[in-house]
Amino acid sequence: MSIDFNQKIYVAGHCGMVGSAIVRDLQAQGYTNIITRTHAQMDLTDQVAVKAFFEEERPDQVYLAAARVGGIHANNTFPAEFIYQNLMMEANVIHHAFVGGVKKLLFLGSSCIYPKLAPQPMSENALLTGRLESTNEPYAIAKIAGIKMCESYNRQYGDSHGVDYRSVMPTNLYGPGDNYHPENSHVIPALIRRFHEAKVTNALDVVIWGTGTPKREFLYVDDMAAASIFVMELNKAAYNSQTEPMQSHLNVGYGSDITIAELARAVAKATGYSGKIDFDTSKPDGAPRKWMDSSKLNQLGWKAQVALDEGLSKAYYDFLDHCDVKH
Ligand SMILES: NC(=O)c1ccc[n+]([C@@H]2O[C@H](COP(=O)([O-])OP(=O)(O)OC[C@H]3O[C@@H](n4cnc5c(N)ncnc54)[C@H](OP(=O)(O)O)[C@@H]3O)[C@@H](O)[C@H]2O)c1
Repeated sequence: MSIDFNQKIYVAGHCGMVGSAIVRDLQAQGYTNIITRTHAQMDLTDQVAVKAFFEEERPDQVYLAAARVGGIHANNTFPAEFIYQNLMMEANVIHHAFVGGVKKLLFLGSSCIYPKLAPQPMSENALLTGRLESTNEPYAIAKIAGIKMCESYNRQYGDSHGVDYRSVMPTNLYGPGDNYHPENSHVIPALIRRFHEAKVTNALDVVIWGTGTPKREFLYVDDMAAASIFVMELNKAAYNSQTEPMQSHLNVGYGSDITIAELARAVAKATGYSGKIDFDTSKPDGAPRKWMDSSKLNQLGWKAQVALDEGLSKAYYDFLDHCDVKH
């Protein structure tokens, strides 16, 4: 089937790290009719505004990459805001996309939908098999609701209205557009900032919390954007071959994980920091391993392209370009 590069595509959350990467990739592929709204122009928790937007614009496709996101501290401090805003954004966008005649929608979830003690690597069918990690449970519940909304609209309106709403679950992402806030950022942007600051101040060592032995998986954001467009464009038979009507989400991971100590050394290399790296073993480690099973997506023909070293140096240049730091 040939692709219509003039179809109208709405990317929700286009100012964010993932949304902006999806827009870049769509533009690079030749899509000409991409529509966006900033948070200030349209608050996606506002049902009246979202309804009016879909009535007026009537897009053909929607990428739902807007979400209220944050680290452990933010999730713990604002649990009501996290569950309310994410549920509202999903309910408003998915429902009014349907009412507005949208046939194809891609919802972005997160690996935190899986139980805290899910077997590793975490496969799609681990969903709803156990208790969630308590720190981000409200956020995870909202993400699970998003998957179940897509499935429910497919089941009720798939045949009658041609609705085909899909979901992807990314592992930890990093890259251009990341949040480098000193206290409230994910592990890679936090390490980039710390190693950069250690380099420019000639610090003798950088101390990392924990033993450095937990393993985590990281995917460059352009790979995530490519996977999102790949899944959106997959023909229905292919998508159905790896999913079930009530188990329809696909994991998106790099394919392998590394220890925090290995990651720290890789970030030190990318930033040019050559001092010591120490581990404060009195601090907690978190889960020993968090790794996605991406074999379904791999079998469909997609795999990550950007190796960690390459991704980290691109992320570091983005940090230098966009953060007001001493070079
Ligand atoms: N980053 C990761 O490591 C990671 C990992 C797994 C899954 N994901 C998922 O990927 C998706 C995108 O994440 P991201 O890292 O790109 O997040 P991000 O950089 O924070 O982008 C999210 C975007 O959503 C917008 N937004 C938030 N609330 C809104 C509202 N009420 N109305 C309109 N827009 C709103 C934000 O605008 P403002 O900034 O103006 O509020 C921002 O532009 C999320 O669903 C997230 O769960 C991300």
